[in-house]
Parts: sequence; structure tokens; C-alpha cells
Amino acid sequence: MITAIASRVEVMKWMEDFVHEKMTEFLKSVEDSWQPADLLPDARMENFFEEVKNLQERARDLSYDLLAVLVGDTITEEALPTYESWLMSIKDLPTNEESPWMRWNRAWTAEENRHGDLLNKYLYLTGRINMREMEASTQYLIADGFDLQTDNDPYRAFVYTSFQETATNLSHRRVAQIAKKQGDGMLAKLCGYVASDEARHAKAYKAFVGKIFEADPNEMMLAFEDMMRKKIVMPAHYMRELGVDMGKTFGHFTDAAQRINVYTALDYTDILSDLVKEWKLETVSGLNDAGERARDYLTALPDRLKRVAERMRSPQLEYKFRWID
Ligand SMILES: [Fe+2]
Ligand SMILES: [Fe+2]
Repeated sequence: MITAIASRVEVMKWMEDFVHEKMTEFLKSVEDSWQPADLLPDARMENFFEEVKNLQERARDLSYDLLAVLVGDTITEEALPTYESWLMSIKDLPTNEESPWMRWNRAWTAEENRHGDLLNKYLYLTGRINMREMEASTQYLIADGFDLQTDNDPYRAFVYTSFQETATNLSHRRVAQIAKKQGDGMLAKLCGYVASDEARHAKAYKAFVGKIFEADPNEMMLAFEDMMRKKIVMPAHYMRELGVDMGKTFGHFTDAAQRINVYTALDYTDILSDLVKEWKLETVSGLNDAGERARDYLTALPDRLKRVAERMRSPQLEYKFRWID
């Protein structure tokens, strides 16, 4: 524990052993990891076309909204270069290649890279997706980047990742449940595998923030408050389609997710109240006046947002995405 008021650089340096420990706990080695090929038909096999035919039959009854959400999720996962460069641009992290922070960033990216790969191949094989349109959206999203409003600050960045990994765990899990109901057990399995990776990542990032709270409670509280006042935006908030104005596609994607209950405004508040509990905000000590006010704001926020979310109606309009013929 750091007693005197430490700078962010010192806190990050002090956390290196902890990050190493969490990395072994929450990331898997390559040897222990599933690969997309484990979950998809093998093109070397004689029964490949038979298996693809079965895959296409199972995917035939997937609803339009579910497919749209799945394409949006895939594009989000495939914009991984943006997320890796964002992680690498966080200030105050030790930058030598062998620092546990840098190893974490690389190993996290390596795990995440399997997600887009798996979902992309699956969607291609279903025969229900206009792949060119989807690929153009991915290229747009990587080129457009994002603005998460974390100001390259590690405290804000890890609030963001704690929130976001929890949200992706939830949404992939929900897609898995719906896919199962709609008769596609294979898709349910794929999304379940992705969801369980996201759950491990969420645990690690939450642990990072918990550790920062030990060393620098006031600054951590203020950073959390700042992120929640700005609101957590989705990493794919600039998502767009060829020939469609920026902003439109993303709104329709989140509408579809809300409509089929994959990710809703209530989920946003549930995740927030989870984080408030996880980091035991009520019992954090060492706060100054601003820190106390931030705590008051944060502990009251879930109920406030919940009342707003409960009044929100599920969006009705079914938009025709260019991704789906
Ligand atoms: Fe992912
Ligand atoms: Fe993730």
C-alpha cells in the first residue's frame, strides 16, 4: 500500500506484480485456449460441405434482429486494432516491452483477436450476410476510430474497460441464449465461448481498479465519477455502412439490441450498480470533499438511471441494414 499521495506513474509501477498475478489468473495460455477452428467446420474434411449445409440450415431461422446484432457485434470485435492502439496510448504505464502492463496489453489483444475471427467465419458460412457490406463497415470503423473520453488516463481507461468487458460478456451471453432458442446450438456455443473470455477480462479489469482504489482512492473516485458523468459510450459508436450517414447505423444497431433484449438501458444501470458494489464504494476511506461528493453521486446514480430506463420504450422500427440481404 502506498501511503503518501502517489502520482499515477507511481501507482502503475507499484501495480506491476499485481498485474502479472492477475494475468496468470485471468488470461489463458495459447496452449489452453480454444481457437476458432475448434468450433467451425474443417475445410480439409470430406464432410465439410455437409457440415456447412447443416450450419446453413440451423442459421436459416435466425431472426433478422439477432443477425443484425451479431453483425454489429462482429464489426465491433474486428475493430480490435483501435482498441489495442488505445490501450498502448494510455499515459503513465511503464512502456518497456517486458513490463507486465505491456505483456497484459499484448496477451489481452491476442485473446480478443479470436473473437472477430470466429464470428466473421461463422457469419460467412451462414450464407445470410452480405460480407462485402459488413467488411466495408469494419474498415470504416477502424479508420474512424472512437472517442471514449478517457483522456489517455489509466484510471478512467480501466473504469471503461471494466464496464465494457462486463457489457460484452452480457451481450454475447444473451445472443447465445437467443440463438439456442431459435434452434442454432452451434452459434449458441460460439457465443458462449466468447462470453466466457469476456467474463475473465472483466474480472481482471475490475481487479485493477480495485487495486488503484487501495493506493489512490480519491483520484480513483473522481475518475469513476467523471466517466459516469460523461457516460460510457460503446466502442463502435461511429459504426456506419457504405452510403449511410455516420450515426444512423449505430443507432439502429443499438435499437435492435434493445428490442431483442441483448443489451438495454437497464443493463447499463445494472452494470453500474455491480461496479459500485464490486469496488465497495460505500466503505472507501481517504476521500476529500470532492471525493465524498463523487461517492455520493456514484452511489445514487444507479437508482436515478433505473427510473429513467424503466420509462424508456423498446424501439419499434426495424431498419434494413445493408449487411443482410
Ligand atoms: Fe471480445
Ligand atoms: Fe472483451
